[in-house]
Amino acid sequence: MRIVLGIESSCDETAAAVVTEDRRILANIVLSQLEDHRAYGGVVPEIAARAHLDHIERVVRDAMSTAGLGFADLAGVAATTGPGLIGGVIVGATVAKSLAMVHDKPFIAINHLEGHALTCRLTDAVPFPFLLLLVSGGHSQFLSVAGVGAYTRLGGTLDDAVGEAFDKTAKMLGLGFPGGPAVEQAALSGDATRFALPRPLLGRPGADLSLSGLKTAVRLAAEKLPAPVSGQDLSDLAASFQAAVGDVLADRLKNALTVFRAAHPSGRHVVIAGGVAANKALRARLQSVVITQGLALIAPPLQLCTDNGAMIAWAGLERLALGESHGLDHPCRPRWPLDEAA
Ligand code: KG4
Ligand code: ZN
Repeated sequence: MRIVLGIESSCDETAAAVVTEDRRILANIVLSQLEDHRAYGGVVPEIAARAHLDHIERVVRDAMSTAGLGFADLAGVAATTGPGLIGGVIVGATVAKSLAMVHDKPFIAINHLEGHALTCRLTDAVPFPFLLLLVSGGHSQFLSVAGVGAYTRLGGTLDDAVGEAFDKTAKMLGLGFPGGPAVEQAALSGDATRFALPRPLLGRPGADLSLSGLKTAVRLAAEKLPAPVSGQDLSDLAASFQAAVGDVLADRLKNALTVFRAAHPSGRHVVIAGGVAANKALRARLQSVVITQGLALIAPPLQLCTDNGAMIAWAGLERLALGESHGLDHPCRPRWPLDEAA
């Protein structure tokens, strides 16, 4: 039974997890740096890197003791080696390489996006091929996933990532950081029809997205309201924004599905992953599209949507099972697209 330690440090979560080949999460420790960054309204790369350095040893130790294992019990040590804030990535990758070297275990370099992409196989044993909508703070793309490492990009954002649009909207509405959960919460009691916001690219061919015009429309609507935007105004604007995003994603998903199904008639699953996949309203909106096509929508449990070590450990297990591991000179990359050809 292979067991892998996974380390994640590419953004503002210092995380380590221990996962088994038969899909059990023995430990999943996530230390959020939210408080370190809150005053700045966003993640400050230099602060993040230093915070990872301060906490990573404790987080790894916690994960191992929660799992009740020693390093000798591991089949390998996996870490995110990109894409992400490079200072933080280097901290996590260096700790993982050091542990691998000292304990004579394979080191597995994992693409953070692959971690999100394969989480559905840890939680739901989703078979290949599947259509993936990866929506996080830094990435928004549709990918056809034919196997481990076999990713074809079908479309993606031309400007802001979906999570970024949520974060910027939250900032404009004075909802603080991180924005996604705050906007979702505010939208719960809002009227999504009150503000007629644009649905960029709706009805156009292809699976690309564009969100910057929507963001501007939210700002213009907010400027017409009594400041600071609050109460029902705030809820209605949050709900209108979220509904616009949902309509755009649903429309783009339909087009992505047409391409995916033509290439992979056997594919039965649509998977949503990344931090934004935690949004229940968006999940429901996408579910409505997927169900009409007789397919299943899979979304990982909320705590496995946002950044965590379990997804990195799992991707490490998938790579190890294919006989892959990496040298200790393996580089860290701030940019690393899943579909290198796109
Ligand atoms: O995957 P993730 O944890 O980090 C990145 O790799 O980017 O995603 C974080 C993003 C943030 O932009 C955050 O606002 C967004 O995911 N997010 C949400 C929700 N929870 C997190 N967006 C919308 N609704 C949510 N409930
Ligand atoms: Zn992420």
